[in-house]
Amino acid sequence: MTCENDWTPAWLEPEQKTVTREPQINLMDMFMGKPMPESDPNEVRLHPCPMLRREFTVAGPVTSATLRCTARGIYKAQVNGADVSEALFAPDFTAYDKIIMYQAYDVTGLVHEGENRWDVTLADGWYAGRIAVPGDSCQFGDRLSFAGELRIELADGSVQVVDTADAGAWKSGRGKYEWSDIQLGEKQDLRREAVFDGAAVPVDAPAADVVPQVGPAVVRRERLEAVAFWAEGDAIVVDFGQVIAGRCRIECDLAQDQELRLEHAEVLDADGKFFMNITGRNKDAVDEFVGRGGHEVLEPDFTFHGFRYVRLSGWDVASQGTFDPACIVAFAIRSDLTEVGRVRTSDERVNKLISNTLWSQRGNMLSIPTDCPQRERMGWAGDIQVYAPTGCFFMDLDSFLSRWLDQVMADQAEDGQVVDYSPMPTPARGGAIMPGVCSSAGWGDAIIAVPWELYRQYGDVSVLERCYDAMVRWHEYCVASAAGAFSDGGEKSGDDRYIWDTTFHYGDWMLPSLLANGPMDGAMATKDFVATCWLAHSTDLLAQVADVLGRDGADERRAYAANVRRAFRGRFVAGEGRLTAEFQGLYVLALAFDMLEERTRQAAADRLAQMIRDNGNRLDTGFLSVPYLLDVLGDFGHADVAADVFWQDGCPGWLYEVDHGATTVWENWLGVAPDGTVGTFSFNHYAFGCVCDWIVRKVGGLRLREPAWAEFDVAPAFVRGFDSCELEHETAAGTVRVAWSGAEAGTREVRVSVPAGCRAHVLLPGAGEQVVGEGERVFTC
Ligand code: BGC
Repeated sequence: MTCENDWTPAWLEPEQKTVTREPQINLMDMFMGKPMPESDPNEVRLHPCPMLRREFTVAGPVTSATLRCTARGIYKAQVNGADVSEALFAPDFTAYDKIIMYQAYDVTGLVHEGENRWDVTLADGWYAGRIAVPGDSCQFGDRLSFAGELRIELADGSVQVVDTADAGAWKSGRGKYEWSDIQLGEKQDLRREAVFDGAAVPVDAPAADVVPQVGPAVVRRERLEAVAFWAEGDAIVVDFGQVIAGRCRIECDLAQDQELRLEHAEVLDADGKFFMNITGRNKDAVDEFVGRGGHEVLEPDFTFHGFRYVRLSGWDVASQGTFDPACIVAFAIRSDLTEVGRVRTSDERVNKLISNTLWSQRGNMLSIPTDCPQRERMGWAGDIQVYAPTGCFFMDLDSFLSRWLDQVMADQAEDGQVVDYSPMPTPARGGAIMPGVCSSAGWGDAIIAVPWELYRQYGDVSVLERCYDAMVRWHEYCVASAAGAFSDGGEKSGDDRYIWDTTFHYGDWMLPSLLANGPMDGAMATKDFVATCWLAHSTDLLAQVADVLGRDGADERRAYAANVRRAFRGRFVAGEGRLTAEFQGLYVLALAFDMLEERTRQAAADRLAQMIRDNGNRLDTGFLSVPYLLDVLGDFGHADVAADVFWQDGCPGWLYEVDHGATTVWENWLGVAPDGTVGTFSFNHYAFGCVCDWIVRKVGGLRLREPAWAEFDVAPAFVRGFDSCELEHETAAGTVRVAWSGAEAGTREVRVSVPAGCRAHVLLPGAGEQVVGEGERVFTC
């Protein structure tokens, strides 16, 4: 896919109708701990996919042909019956009221002299499909429209342009798609031949900027075959062995009027039966096909699901024969990102944890960085803020996250607030942001932390430049909010101004010990503390950004952060090394973000270690603190506790999930309880997979020192329980490799490979620091 030139397209609307369906259940109920109602007032509106057709004559032999397309909704374009690209769900997910991307395709091989045909099918996608926390349909708009231009260069040097400006030359129609919702699923009635008997009408262009597509398109990638299948009543359940974001393709005979139905689920219930509660909040994740009599390859086009299991109903043994699982495959669908990091240890359970994390990343890097593929599928800023370092180890996320940051900035409010997920649909709410999804500490802070991580990983100063004003506006909002500017209590005075306790935050989200009534209890118990830590930490990061960019104000920012830390100690420190709230995650953040006086830090770390010991070596940390937990323990002389927490196979613990059949990372440590009860949270959330960053740095020993890996440390901590670890990471300069083996000190061999232009600081026990440049070397220690 290539993109050049700016383009001001003309927009067309095909004839279209909306069908309404039974209401679905509102996701907000989950947050508010309400019992699940039978139904809610959310109306589900679906569009039978409208189609557009343009027939045209090309006057002579073609030397080149380029197509540019975009839509409100998502589109599939074909020229003379052939798909113009393998891209799915174009245009990618943006805040469509502000930015719409267009795609450009080289279609030289598809256009020819004489009669030609250009077909477009539109579907709801993220624009009109059921998305986000409230889960309504049509949150950006309820009319689908398309814009396109085909530019053909002929051998005689002339140029022929066919586009959507000429509405009268287009016909509109309808084909096999009864509906297609990006979340609920798709119904194809194969008996319906496409008919083009309607007119297309010109419609106003959107107010949004129409810009070239940046970053990767969404594509089908990994192909999975069934690993098991069994009958459940009249249905057949197929297990693909791996939780993915994607969909199935099934090849079979399908009789006239026969209906096949595929339901999708991530987990089975405790009895090993098909289990759908996780998607119960959006009841359906169902694809349906109605036969016309013939051999078919059935696959939905405009939807995807989060699943591992598929329940297939409607299989007719009499006409189709005994079900053969070879007829069905699943495809993982994701943004076309290059995988650049691999790590393998001597422990197979840890290797499974690493694989699970990578699969969660695959399932959640789908157009935007999402929280989970089976429920909200939103660009929750806190999740990617937590996960970005791990994410950048496994995949090249430079253009992907940079594009998402454009959405975050487009969604930023006038007063500097950053919404908790982007793209944020606001048009359906009259332009207002949904209450409760704005400016949570650790979520909004992604506007500083994520560009900073991109700068570290890829040396990309331009992302800092581009985001700098947004960072400053966010910071100023946080400062004013902490000082009481927006709260009913009015302006605060004294050190109280530096405590951010004036608004809602998600706090240390998913805190295990406070999850009995849902995650809100943990949020409320930790929010002021966590927000104040983040206020200091983000301010420090902003000062560092200012230094890199040579901007003014870094000293003032540091002075402000010092005030926050002083105020924090006044409010949240109870005594030498003691905090006012005894949660592990709060100790972790206080230590990781330097909130405590130097002389009390060790005592606080010792207290943290003791709390963990008292908890049976189990962690009690949520999203925001877990990335720092094991490092903080190691840094303060408790590497043994860190190892015990890491190797913990009870709940909560990373290996507990592995032992309980996880193939991705769970949203809630208690996805499957020790008694086998299967929970209703997501089974595919990458946030807690951030431990892989610790594995890379401490077990593998590879730690970035200077942006873009120009300098890095090789410093394995020889964490108890590992006999070897090997990893490689492809950087712009070349591939970095570190591999060590040998369990005993004195026998360990560390192999290091440094790309040209980079330097490694090798720090091994008893050997001091050795700085080496390009080449491969072996060290012993
Ligand atoms: C999402 C999270 C997100 C959170 C906000 C959840 O529903 O799945 O991962 O960050 O809401 O706290």
